Amino acid sequence: MKGFDTLENRCAACQRCDLAHHRKMVVVGRGNPRSDLMLIGEAPGADEDNLGLPFVGRSGRLLSELLKEADLDEDQDLYICNVIKCRPPHNRKPTLEEMRQCRPWLREQLELVNPSLVLLAGATALQALLGIKSGISKLRGQWHEQEGRTFMPVFHPSYLLRFRSREAGSPQTLTLQDLQEAKRRLSAQGG
Ligand code: URA
Repeated sequence: MKGFDTLENRCAACQRCDLAHHRKMVVVGRGNPRSDLMLIGEAPGADEDNLGLPFVGRSGRLLSELLKEADLDEDQDLYICNVIKCRPPHNRKPTLEEMRQCRPWLREQLELVNPSLVLLAGATALQALLGIKSGISKLRGQWHEQEGRTFMPVFHPSYLLRFRSREAGSPQTLTLQDLQEAKRRLSAQGG
């Protein structure tokens, strides 16, 4: 997609914040930019920084597993990206200033993909997109309408790595249910 090529090239040259001095690669996105479903995480980690793709490390492998179980094809059914495009040193949480500086890239990505459904993986995405500072455990699984799109907070995959259990009500089971709900909505919309 033409718009994407220029976005990726411009992101690769970005020097808006100090993260530019630490990164190996800018991590823009992967998956299907024509999909009606987008998943937004926090920021790249070491594996993502090495490969230039989001969610390709340990948490990404768990995300891929759950997407598959929910019958979502990660190459076809959604587009995956992050709030922040460069790895914060030592995987620390991005600062508010870094989120502010990176926001125009995410806005542009949202406009280019133009998904009607958006999954917000973790507290940083919840804060960046809906301006909600806490409460992911209560808000996960609920759809929120804003600016013509429908957003659903879900647990971040790296949080899920801490709880291996698949008992009823466990974080992984709840996330699988959330992804299945996203799949249902996507299919109902013909996506
Ligand atoms: N965590 C994220 O939020 N994004 C990634 O791409 C990888 C880990």
